Amino acid sequence: MSIHYDAKLQIFHLQTENTSYVFGLARGTYPLHLHWGKKIRSSAVSDLFDPGAMGFSSTVDPAEPSLSLDTLPHEYPGYGSGDFREPAYVAELANGTTVTELAYVSHSILKGKPALEGLPAVYAETEEEAETLQLVLEDSLAGLRAELSYTVMKGFDTIIRSARLINTGTAPLKLNRALSLALDFPHDEFELIHLSGSWARERHLVRAPLRSGNQGIDSKRGASSHQQNPFLALLSPNAGEDSGEAYGFSLVYSGSFSAGAEVDQYGSTRVTMGINPFGFRWLLEPGESFQTPEAVLAYSDAGIGGMSRIYHRLYRTRLARGLYRDEPRPVLINNWEATYFGFDADKIEDIARAGQALGIELFVLDDGWFGRRDDDTTSLGDWFVDKRKLPQGLSDLAERVNRLGMQFGLWFEPEMVSPDSELYRAHPDWCLHVPDRRRSQSRNQLILDLSRPEVCDYIIDAVSSVLSSAPITYVKWDMNRHMTEIGSASLPPGRQGETAHRYMLGLYRVMEEITSSFPHVLFESCSGGGGRFDPGILHYMPQTWTSDNTDAVERLKIQYGTSIVYPASAMGAHISAVPNHQVHRSTPLSMRGDVAMSGNFGYELDLTRFTEQEQAEAAAQVAFYKEIRSLVQQGDMYRLLSPFEGNETAWMFVAEDQSEALAGYFRVLAGPNTARPRLRLQGLDPEKDYVLKETGTVYGGDRLMYAGLLLPELHGDFQSKLLHFVAVTA
Ligand code: DGJ
Repeated sequence: MSIHYDAKLQIFHLQTENTSYVFGLARGTYPLHLHWGKKIRSSAVSDLFDPGAMGFSSTVDPAEPSLSLDTLPHEYPGYGSGDFREPAYVAELANGTTVTELAYVSHSILKGKPALEGLPAVYAETEEEAETLQLVLEDSLAGLRAELSYTVMKGFDTIIRSARLINTGTAPLKLNRALSLALDFPHDEFELIHLSGSWARERHLVRAPLRSGNQGIDSKRGASSHQQNPFLALLSPNAGEDSGEAYGFSLVYSGSFSAGAEVDQYGSTRVTMGINPFGFRWLLEPGESFQTPEAVLAYSDAGIGGMSRIYHRLYRTRLARGLYRDEPRPVLINNWEATYFGFDADKIEDIARAGQALGIELFVLDDGWFGRRDDDTTSLGDWFVDKRKLPQGLSDLAERVNRLGMQFGLWFEPEMVSPDSELYRAHPDWCLHVPDRRRSQSRNQLILDLSRPEVCDYIIDAVSSVLSSAPITYVKWDMNRHMTEIGSASLPPGRQGETAHRYMLGLYRVMEEITSSFPHVLFESCSGGGGRFDPGILHYMPQTWTSDNTDAVERLKIQYGTSIVYPASAMGAHISAVPNHQVHRSTPLSMRGDVAMSGNFGYELDLTRFTEQEQAEAAAQVAFYKEIRSLVQQGDMYRLLSPFEGNETAWMFVAEDQSEALAGYFRVLAGPNTARPRLRLQGLDPEKDYVLKETGTVYGGDRLMYAGLLLPELHGDFQSKLLHFVAVTA
């Protein structure tokens, strides 16, 4: 990993182990992109600038007609001086115009990776782990400066980009758009993938060829959303799981975002990504600055799988933080689908006791323990215990669970307020709203205005005092609606367009303070399942409830799609009752278990209703998961068969030192008169022998990967098999 500036050629060359990112300065002024992809040795690539055709394009200098902003590949383009493609930023000057042009001023190359003020970010543990280029551009006429940041990290084929925009003038500026990056590719021979869906159907993999014009995804919901994930990748046309080129773009942000690819008239492709400009306005008074979130770019020539493994390892080890970044995640039992709002302390203890008998390590008390919350119409914001249900309080219940030898966890939804709550009655202006307009409810609730520091302080105090009141070692942090009537009572008219992003900054402060005050607590984020499954939240909370849909068949697609960017250690995955509460399908306990064991494993049903046979099966599942959890939570994931392409799904996890592997095979429907499938594994050491623990049979790693393994006979619908291999030591 290194960053080199060739002063003679005016070229910046950022190198990671296998990749190069190169850009140069045209006329010492315009940073123009030259190459991102497989590593090249030399920086001498300025001859790649191709002014190309010039029909109908303006020029910067009549003496050099080919120098047109419209045709050149830019690092951080603006709008108004000749480039008609999607800009990275738009600034409105005090005179009402929006024409700006950033020119190179200076640069510096630093060791390490500076933190981003108030925003989640990938981090380096030592200065030696990273190098950062800071490029300063300026439009002195407008009084606008941009500091572009590019980081390379040791051991990762990623480029991490962000921008800081500063008002260096004497008059106010308005930012109408401030994206994290733009990147121009010289061709359009790509297919685009992204992760789209809805509540209970999150992150389905979508793939389509690029076409001329704009194509992209966004969220205007004030959350990264179930509907679109802040990620896209460009693939070489025939790229598959293990071959072809993949260029990934992932935004470390949890609010409204936009990401797109624009194919222009000459067949070049511009990718842009950042905070959604729709509805965004930011006032910069003289001397003020605006920091964009960062985007993580990952390149692999080993297909989508290669790209995913880069993201998995980076997000697992250098985005997630805290004790549970490295500690094994406990097996849990959550009472939500077992009791919903109807429970008391004895019922909870009964479920916990049944869990303890199975070897489960953590009991999680879900929604309904506070205020007077017997259904979802009331009490959000009133974070004091409901003595009708828990007369002895939370600490008594937590201690009862502890006495069983289990840890105790608790659900919160801190960002919300019920109109029927003491908090709302005391502070009706503490929610997002627009004066005199309806306050649209969703799930009977409103959103607290986290752009207000005093609201954030209230949340920090309320959650902290509950966490200090009882031995709580796990928190499920839920968030169950999207933003409407986005406005803040505390911001002046000229700053209303800042509300949604200020909310995110407030949320990140709240999460930072609470997670650092309670370092022993494992935090799992949730938003009606996976509505905020994004890298921003993962910086504070190392795992997320992947989806409210716990049906084993549906989970194959949800977990497969999620794994395109996010590691298994980030995914909460539970066994729930059948018929399933979301799709009413009945699948065997074995398949529900095998799918859930591909993430952070747990149960979410009334364990006291298990038959003896189910108890024995579940106890074996828990014991098996404890044996393999380090593989799932810390291993490298290889996807073998896609649920988006057929009836079968397979994936596997391999220990970093290739000493152990777990392969999972899942078949949805049985077919008549079919041959037994042969599964070819990946990621093993071809020179090593591996014993399949269940049978004791020894196989060569090469044979398992190149010739495959004949899977055992499976009968009926909804069948699955987990295969645990351990390397034979000489
Ligand atoms: C939505 C979550 O996704 C569920 O798991 C559960 O916690 C409910 N909220 C509780 O209201």
